[in-house]
Amino acid sequence: MNTLVHAQAVDDHYGRADLATTILQALQAAGKDPDRLAPEDLAPVDQFHSRGIVATLELAERAGLAAGAHVLDVGGGLGGAARALAQRIGCRVTVLDLTREYCHAGALLTARCGLAERVRFECGSALAMPFADAAFDAAWSQHSSMNIADKPRLYGEIARVLKRGGTFALHEIAAGPRAPVHFPVPWARTPEISHLVAPDELRALVVAAGFAEREWIDETDRVLDWFARGAAAAAGGALPPLGLHVLLGPDFGAMFANQVRNLNEERIRVVQGVFERR
Ligand SMILES: C[S@@+](CC[C@H](N)C(=O)[O-])C[C@H]1O[C@@H](n2cnc3c(N)ncnc32)[C@H](O)[C@@H]1O
Repeated sequence: MNTLVHAQAVDDHYGRADLATTILQALQAAGKDPDRLAPEDLAPVDQFHSRGIVATLELAERAGLAAGAHVLDVGGGLGGAARALAQRIGCRVTVLDLTREYCHAGALLTARCGLAERVRFECGSALAMPFADAAFDAAWSQHSSMNIADKPRLYGEIARVLKRGGTFALHEIAAGPRAPVHFPVPWARTPEISHLVAPDELRALVVAAGFAEREWIDETDRVLDWFARGAAAAAGGALPPLGLHVLLGPDFGAMFANQVRNLNEERIRVVQGVFERR
């Protein structure tokens, strides 16, 4: 699959017509005022990764990001992590994402949270970043490398746009010791846009791109526990108005069932890492 066809396939997977309106309606149905939003109102829908906002805040703590730091959120989706970093720590965040509807909806939601001065969106590919060398103090990536086959280029681009000594925090899905992955999963309906590597290969790729490892954690067991608690809480009830099903549509149930099965059968793992640009 060439780069353009691949980019279109990723956009097709995540994109959903008029997503901003759908999210605003879901917020209203959940009892929120869409004209006066707080970033935490959006957490059920804008933290598109394992363990939601809790994992985002843990990673921020681990990374030790400082107020005023300019952070690049690679594949930042709707900007949930970006708004959390801006609101809670005082970072300035640029979100780079390939999915046009996410960039559009993310910018609209950010403005309604009053954070447009600190969080901006750039629609483009992490493999050809529209940024100058050493433009950022820190880089951030949560569950956004799974669609990217050319990981040396991905981490090379992150290294290029980071200042020397800058922090790179990642939270990713990696391949488990068993294959294949059961599809559909939240990041791909078919294997063509799924490109997982084993945890040790992932960290070696980041190091080879010019980083020193500060911390590496396998959080697979905690993710399984989080899914088990979520399933118990939801047992028998209807889906709430606001949740990741708003992004994923009718495949949501099958995707999340497969996610749990893939974790249980050791077909995928979930890792966090913090690195420093050498
Ligand atoms: C599962 S979502 C995670 C979004 C966000 N990081 C979060 O945790 O809420 C994966 C994101 O990666 C983005 N993505 C995939 N490939 C990309 C690429 N080559 N360049 C930029 N973004 C990409 C997708 O558009 C999507 O928004």
